[in-house]
Amino acid sequence: MNIEIDRKECIEWKEIYPDQLLRHNDPTKSLWVAIGGYVYDVTDFCKKHPGGEEILYENAGKEVTMLFKDVGHSIVALQILEGLKIGQLVKSNNIIAIGNIEIKTLDGFCRFL
Ligand code: HEM
Repeated sequence: MNIEIDRKECIEWKEIYPDQLLRHNDPTKSLWVAIGGYVYDVTDFCKKHPGGEEILYENAGKEVTMLFKDVGHSIVALQILEGLKIGQLVKSNNIIAIGNIEIKTLDGFCRFL
């Protein structure tokens, strides 16, 4: 029998709490965003972002899943994203509410990959 395992799913990611995420919103220090239940460090990437760095400054420290999806980012963007992953956002009562975006799904996260 041939069983394929997605190794990325096997990695135990560092747990990051919403209040930690929130603190990484300073362009002179560090910029993190959360997408689909994971946290990404965009500090170095923001200057290379084809959509401009300002939009990442504005949204740093926040849950940006819907914004990221709405732009219709390509597979290339998803690949870059994968390389920026630093941890898993800890759920709180299956609701993530950061900034002005609230996501509620059956398993606690909006998954789109
Ligand atoms: C955090 C990780 C992100 C990565 C790795 C990323 C990557 C990219 C890439 C590679 C592109 C070029 C087009 C494409 O290949 O899809 C792009 C374009 C763009 N991104 Fe992002 N992006 C990120 C986050 C965001 C967020 C949070 C927003 C909005 C709030 C955003 C808004 C845009 C816009 C407006 C464009 C320009 C689209 C166009 O001119 O056609 N991006 N991004």
